[in-house]
Amino acid sequence: MKPKGSLRALTTIMGAIAMVSACVANAGSDPNEPPDQLRVVRGEELYQQYCASCHRTDLSGDPDWKTPKEDGSYPPPPHDSTGHTWHHSDQVLLEIIRDGSDFAQSRMPSFGERLSDDDIGAILEFFKANWGPEEREYQRQINEQQARLGE
Ligand code: HEC
Repeated sequence: MKPKGSLRALTTIMGAIAMVSACVANAGSDPNEPPDQLRVVRGEELYQQYCASCHRTDLSGDPDWKTPKEDGSYPPPPHDSTGHTWHHSDQVLLEIIRDGSDFAQSRMPSFGERLSDDDIGAILEFFKANWGPEEREYQRQINEQQARLGE
């Protein structure tokens, strides 16, 4: 068996395990725990397939992402530490990705028919693996705040 094929098979198996064990999309998002590398790898594969065409392969987004276009829509923002993806809770990010954004004539498509919540969770793990410790900690606190409000 070629190493590449076996890694893919392993990723698929781990994905299936993650799907069973992860009842919430933010499973494994504790910044004190080492990231689940296989989930990050799967998230990166999905990102490159579905998101990179707009948000760029290196997560850097459109250089003019802060400037609205003529139609009032905003260009794709970065998802690394330079953007503001990490200002949002896992739940809010899941909803934007699953349902599309309702922000200012948004061109962000909805992926709910193509990606499961667990797929989206894996993409979020990939984003987090690209944030610095400060962004991860900030976003962890946003998640906690939201969980408290939801109680
Ligand atoms: C057709 C282009 C396009 C594709 C493909 C695309 N996006 Fe977007 N995305 C956008 C645009 C444009 C915005 C910014 C405008 C907005 O949010 O209204 C955006 C915004 C977002 C935001 C909100 C960011 C923030 O900080 O508020 C998230 C999260 C996001 N995209 C994730 C994804 C993910 C994950 C994928 C792949 C599954 C993806 N996008 C694929 C165009 C795209």
